[in-house]
Amino acid sequence: RGASFSIRRYCFKTPAKLRVSEAVSGAHLGANVKVQGWLRSVRPQKANLFLHVNDGSALQSLQVVASSELNDPLLTLGSAVEVTGTLRKSPHQKQPVELEADQIHVVGDCNPVDFPFKKKERHSLEYIRQFPHLRCRTNAFSSLLRIRSEATTAVHSYFKENGFVQIHTPVITSNDCEGAGELFRVEPSGPENEEGEKFFSVPAFLTVSGQLHLEVMSGAFSRVYTFGPTFRAENSQSRRHLAEFYMVEAEVSFTQSLEDLTKVMEDMFRSATEHVLAHCAADVDLFHKHVTPGHRVSPQGHLLFGCIIIHYYYLNLLFFYCWGCDLQTEHEKYLVKHCGNVPVFVTDYPYDLKPFYARDNQDHPKHTAAAVDLLVPGVGELCGGSLREERLDLLRARTGLEDTYSWYLDLRRFGSVPHGGFGLGFERFLQCILGVDNIKDVIAFPRFSHSCLL
Ligand code: 4AD
Repeated sequence: RGASFSIRRYCFKTPAKLRVSEAVSGAHLGANVKVQGWLRSVRPQKANLFLHVNDGSALQSLQVVASSELNDPLLTLGSAVEVTGTLRKSPHQKQPVELEADQIHVVGDCNPVDFPFKKKERHSLEYIRQFPHLRCRTNAFSSLLRIRSEATTAVHSYFKENGFVQIHTPVITSNDCEGAGELFRVEPSGPENEEGEKFFSVPAFLTVSGQLHLEVMSGAFSRVYTFGPTFRAENSQSRRHLAEFYMVEAEVSFTQSLEDLTKVMEDMFRSATEHVLAHCAADVDLFHKHVTPGHRVSPQGHLLFGCIIIHYYYLNLLFFYCWGCDLQTEHEKYLVKHCGNVPVFVTDYPYDLKPFYARDNQDHPKHTAAAVDLLVPGVGELCGGSLREERLDLLRARTGLEDTYSWYLDLRRFGSVPHGGFGLGFERFLQCILGVDNIKDVIAFPRFSHSCLL
């Protein structure tokens, strides 16, 4: 029985199922294969039919060559197909491999009149944004999502290589870390229970930052990070704010100075940028050539950093003459531009501008906090961070903390150490390296005021 089974398998060998990225790699020339995907172009030409099939595994589509007998009116831009045939060398240098089709099966048709994307047209990011459920079918947005996925890997790799422990900080929390009143309240949608009790016994919110939970963990693991969704009820239609965004946050114990923090920010930025450029070269190239023409990120990544560090105090003397004013986006862009379009750190902000956790710089003539922001070209603020106030007496002096944050004060009672951390806006990072003007174009499903589609 064993022998007859293997003979049957030999005689009726099914074609190997390949992803498009594997098919175009050239490693399977001569093989009989099956490829599944969506049509990016359909071109009948004399006795032949030329198709481009893409399955999202790579920017490059697989060219399929078929006899015109296999043509079918349902083979249109956007339809889903399954093609079986033989991979062979192609005479075209740009696409050295093509699939000579024996069979083409339309899995799902696509009405070309209603489909919002038209053949040979390069649609703008703004145009495709109107179709959040379909824009992943375009070259530009599928490149963006592959880059985003790879940048996520890059961030995790950086922290792993540098001895950080990843913490899953909660999405639902009772704290308002930033104290800016931009919280989304969380409540069950059903009726309250019979005794009229609330689901949580305290007001609960979607997190605006995982920082306080990371501070808890840094007291045991020294170096921790988190990378997850973060929520701000900011009533803003700006090009760099979302109501739901992803934040990368790190917290480091035994940190004595802001320079220790700026070093981690810079290293992480550089390493993630280099990783993306190395692993998504074709996708990044498409962006820089066609989607955001003129934008470039240095291949070495580190050239991005001019290592300019400016104390808010001097900044104020030089530019603003308004002690205590927060930097507006226009200030940030102006500053970056005048420093030669390189990333700039601004440090030691007026104390009252920063949340309760920021460390008091008691030695400065003006009252400042040991806080730092990283400003980058095209975007403005990318990271915000600070040394944290580790001295119990100073923290206690801040009103209200004893009642609401007694657990936070405990951290200063039991083995408190100097520590600090920062948060990086992941979408702004992508905007910066790809030169994308609007933050809504670097996230799959953007949420902002008056918009929660899908
Ligand atoms: O400066 P922020 O508010 O800092 C914090 O939340 C700290 N608790 C982080 C920490 O120290 N662990 O936010 C950090 C970064 C900003 O620099 C910005 O890049 C991004 O998060 N960000 C936003 N990105 C998109 N949409 C919004 N509404 C954002 N708000 C902040």
